[in-house]
Amino acid sequence: MKALLSVKDLRVNFYTSAGIVKAVDGISFEIAKKEIFALVGESGCGKSTTALAIMRLVPYPGKIVGGKILFKNKNLLEATGEEMTQIRGKEISMIFQNPLTSLNPVYRVGHQVAEAIVLDNIPKRKAWKKVIELFKNVKIPDAEERAYSYPHELSGGMRQRVMIGMMISREPSLIIADEPTTALDVTIQAQIIKLLSELRDTLETSILLITHDFGVVAELADRIAVMYAGKIVEMGNVYQIFENPLHPYTGMLIDALPRITKKEGRLEEIPGSVPNLINPPSGCRFHPRCPLKKEVCSTEEPSLVEVERGHFVACHLYGGGKA
Ligand SMILES: Nc1ncnc2c1ncn2[C@@H]1O[C@H](COP(=O)(O)OP(=O)(O)OP(=O)(O)O)[C@@H](O)[C@H]1O
Ligand SMILES: [Mg+2]
Repeated sequence: MKALLSVKDLRVNFYTSAGIVKAVDGISFEIAKKEIFALVGESGCGKSTTALAIMRLVPYPGKIVGGKILFKNKNLLEATGEEMTQIRGKEISMIFQNPLTSLNPVYRVGHQVAEAIVLDNIPKRKAWKKVIELFKNVKIPDAEERAYSYPHELSGGMRQRVMIGMMISREPSLIIADEPTTALDVTIQAQIIKLLSELRDTLETSILLITHDFGVVAELADRIAVMYAGKIVEMGNVYQIFENPLHPYTGMLIDALPRITKKEGRLEEIPGSVPNLINPPSGCRFHPRCPLKKEVCSTEEPSLVEVERGHFVACHLYGGGKA
């Protein structure tokens, strides 16, 4: 696989007054060109922190303390501030859960997207034409008219389409979509999912999809990494993960699926909760919640091992030796 993005042993800490939160604790994965790669896991497991690290936007009191992020073979952790500004928006763009907080309330949405386009030295009038074209691409009805709307005049689904339009306006090679459908109702979610998958085909973009929702993942992702408490516990393609989930945590997430789709798609119903990342449990971090735990699980940390081609799991049930 030729990787567009390759994250190697990434570590991010938050230095809080209560202690050091190891939010991302040595994770590695690759995303190929045109691939949709999903990071899944419950709240607080480090998904957004991973995304922000790739953009080099980890907020204070957070710090990237180790690893490499190779994008087009360049280590972004060594890039200058200026290089990162170039890369953000142009090469890698990010879409957040709540488009209202990302759109400026006092500007018409068309103008906001045009502003991104003129950054590429495209004259204003041409940029406006491109905005209308983009809005049509993301299936905004009456695009010419809607471009003059203010964010509050649009529905949540339409605002997310505007965001996606803005995100693709500079034709990035990688889109990071952090919970792009969580704030939307189920039918609108399905439309946005369809749109993202079409854009991957037409623009040949790679997508890093971050979500709680295994249902969204099943529909959209090529490969999946399941995160738990700052670590990747299982990784494989969509068939491997859904047909042969190996880690007990992955199994529980999938079993919870029919129930959670009825209940706004969240995963909070699995018994127990993600541990505090200042003092995580010893051994396998999942052991306090694991129905299949053995003695070794509380003492030794399992390492991520490849059990079939491209399918990795970190669990003592599969011989995961010492990390
Ligand atoms: N600004 C911050 N200051 C201190 N700790 C933080 C900060 N941001 C995140 N963390 C901690 O880092 C860990 C990972 O958080 P992160 O937001 O990456 O999780 P997530 O998987 O995206 O969760 P969610 O699904 O709720 O968005 C959590 O323990 C969180 O409390
Ligand atoms: Mg998050």
